[in-house]
Amino acid sequence: MPIAMWTPELSLGVESLDADHRQLIDTLNQVFDALLFDRSSSALHGALATLNDYVTGHFAREEAWMQARNHPDLVRHRQEHEALRDQLALLCAMRELSDQERSVELLMVLRDWLLGHIAHSDRDASAA
Ligand SMILES: [Fe+2]
Ligand SMILES: [Fe+2]
Repeated sequence: MPIAMWTPELSLGVESLDADHRQLIDTLNQVFDALLFDRSSSALHGALATLNDYVTGHFAREEAWMQARNHPDLVRHRQEHEALRDQLALLCAMRELSDQERSVELLMVLRDWLLGHIAHSDRDASAA
């Protein structure tokens, strides 16, 4: 049961970046599904591994795309990426929490990431 869905309003019009954003939505839905129905740790650990790659690969692709367009907001945007990277690292380090608690925390991070960063900052970057 998905809690987040791709919509055309999220599109940047760049195939590779849109594919990355779709992957983030898929990851969010997988963590949610596992929390509701599966309760095993594998979905959480798989999601964290995916996201650790994501914050390297996707952020580099997106920043290169902005740089190629001499985007005036690149420095601030890079800072937002850094903050998301820090949030993820913090979550990975929260070993005192159960996997279920970490899954809930991760869902909140991904929700803010999707609704706060992708839907606004990334979209604004494509409009400029
Ligand atoms: Fe993005
Ligand atoms: Fe971004």
